[in-house]
Amino acid sequence: MQPNDVNLTVDFLGLRLRNPLALTEGPLTGSADRIRRAAGHSIGIMFTKGIRPQPATSPNPFIAKTGRRSLMNADWSDIGFEQWLKDLEELRDRDFFLVASIAKNYVTPPVAADMAEEIAQCGPDAISLVDYDPDDLIRAVKLARPRVKLPLMVKLCPFMPRLEEVLKELVEAGIDGVAAMDSIGPVLAVDVETGLPSMGSEDGSGYLSGEAIKPVMVKYVYEISRFVDLPVVGVGGVSKAEDVVEVTMVGATVVGMVTAPLLHGLGVFDRVEKQLRKHLADRDVADINSLRGLTHRKVAEAGMRYDARAVIDPQKCENCGLCVRVCFKQAPLEEDGSTRIQIERCVGCGLCVSVCPQKAITLIC
Ligand SMILES: Cc1cc2nc3c(=O)[nH]c(=O)nc-3n(C[C@H](O)[C@H](O)[C@H](O)COP(=O)(O)O)c2cc1C
Repeated sequence: MQPNDVNLTVDFLGLRLRNPLALTEGPLTGSADRIRRAAGHSIGIMFTKGIRPQPATSPNPFIAKTGRRSLMNADWSDIGFEQWLKDLEELRDRDFFLVASIAKNYVTPPVAADMAEEIAQCGPDAISLVDYDPDDLIRAVKLARPRVKLPLMVKLCPFMPRLEEVLKELVEAGIDGVAAMDSIGPVLAVDVETGLPSMGSEDGSGYLSGEAIKPVMVKYVYEISRFVDLPVVGVGGVSKAEDVVEVTMVGATVVGMVTAPLLHGLGVFDRVEKQLRKHLADRDVADINSLRGLTHRKVAEAGMRYDARAVIDPQKCENCGLCVRVCFKQAPLEEDGSTRIQIERCVGCGLCVSVCPQKAITLIC
């Protein structure tokens, strides 16, 4: 199969997207001109920066790299509601999909519903409400739903309590989709030369995004898609084709990125789309939609195992010694120029499998 034969189109909120990639809320979608600039890339759908009633000035500095491929931010929308209405009007004539995202956490549910109704008149394809407080979010959806004909979705913050129950109420209130998740916070990082926090916010704290948060998001999407039969947007730490496949397998229809394009440029969307086509073509997967929810099915089939042990394929092993170094049971043994597992010592923890650069180790029952 050729990469160009792979179907990447996905159906989301009644729209057919060219691919599952989304540029979600952040500085790259912070105004009409920034959104138009991003539209030149291989992006299936965009989400505006969180729209709030008043513009806010972010204290400097408000974005910093922290750890590998991760960021901290304390970044607020520098344009307010009235300006956003003008920007959305300006974007009415467009050839890309756009969700208007409301930073619900800054307003009461009735104000959020008013904002949603007005924003809906300006021609976005859908509206999303973002909040930390589940009860407030449910109230806002209940008020907005009868007043907005467009698809209405919510974006959840990490570690939402009572997830199953909250999702049930949101579905009953009439949402059409769910995104997970916002950045994780508040978190703190300190410059050890100056002792100052890396963010200029009041207490120096900010919100964490990027590679560091990806496993939290993957678990979140997995859980959400167990509980609701609605399209899910997975966003958090995605930067490459394998990540998109992983997030699709746990149930996402759309996969978002913000930190990756901030760190590596908007061209990351073009690269990921290309890599994704090749990744799927190499594995004879003709349609990305066929992978959705695969992990749920596999988990149900696999059950739990307690008798697996590591085995090294001598054809692949290059005796790099990494498995010897990481094994806390000292099961791998380097002898006469080759490495083997002393099976009586192995407990099948799997660490050597995950670190082996040659993929020479497997767990076998
Ligand atoms: C600088 C920055 C600003 C952000 N602003 C918003 C925002 O206004 N509203 C929102 O819902 N999420 C916002 N986010 C969160 C992202 O949309 C996304 O959910 C989160 O960063 C995880 O994705 P990532 O790891 O690909 O960045 C922001 C993220 C960053 C890095």
